[in-house]
Amino acid sequence: MKIRKAVIVAAGLGTRMLPASKVIPKEILPVIDTPAIQLVVEEAVASGIEEIIVVVAPGRTKVIEHFQPAEELERHLEERGKHDILEIVRRPNKLARFTIAEQAKPLGLGHAVLQARDAVGDEPFAVMLPDDIFDCPRPCLGQLIEAAVAREAPVVALLRVAHSEIPKYGIVAAKTAGERLFELTGMVEKPRVEEAPSDLAIMGRYVLTPDIFELLAEGKPGKGGEIQLTDALMALAARRKLYGYEFEGIRYDLGDRAGFIAAQVGFGLKRPDLAPRLREYLKSIVS
Ligand code: G1P
Repeated sequence: MKIRKAVIVAAGLGTRMLPASKVIPKEILPVIDTPAIQLVVEEAVASGIEEIIVVVAPGRTKVIEHFQPAEELERHLEERGKHDILEIVRRPNKLARFTIAEQAKPLGLGHAVLQARDAVGDEPFAVMLPDDIFDCPRPCLGQLIEAAVAREAPVVALLRVAHSEIPKYGIVAAKTAGERLFELTGMVEKPRVEEAPSDLAIMGRYVLTPDIFELLAEGKPGKGGEIQLTDALMALAARRKLYGYEFEGIRYDLGDRAGFIAAQVGFGLKRPDLAPRLREYLKSIVS
């Protein structure tokens, strides 16, 4: 099994980050100075991905512009000999090959992934949700790919969450299958705490096999009237073994205001150019 393509779903309306996301797609909002979607693409490339398919809402092409040359800006920097900044500006263009798929209507995550069917074709692929950003010793997607290759099977990222968080996620029923590895026997999209089969939540990284597409195409609206990826995964688990991998590392939820701030602080404290001042500042205000 070789995973060459990743689908990044960037078609949401970003309602949880309004008003910031009114004009700017939320995937362009930065973690410090880098758009969230660039961090996701960097994670994909570090995990061996060569081609990125970005699913966008109609007209929301700003997300992809970030990975295209900015001629005027580049000329300006070149003329002034600002080669280090030029390198930073050009970096996104060189990361991977990009394709766009449009989701005409916001009919759910599963429906968004289905729009990438032609671009993916008949091979296993990754799905990445840019609300979820990771700080891991090895790229989160890479950890999943390793497990998927070892088992020749689809794998989703798992994280144990507090009970109060359970209704925000797809929650799995699972049995241990190895170190950090679970065989998934059931899953529910955003259950009430009383209905949840466990506290293991699906995070926004998936390695999938192309047979998921026909299940998505047959899929009926589920939770919230949307075509849910979780429902198609449940159907997939009835056909073949499906695994969950409790990844090693930290995850930030950029789709949540507090998570967005936590990511700025967490990543800031890892940056040698920022950490000393940031630490001082945090000390001065938290006491
Ligand atoms: C989606 C999935 C959910 C998963 C979550 C991870 O939900 O539907 O199963 O747990 O991503 O972030 P969303 O956050 O898009 O509502």
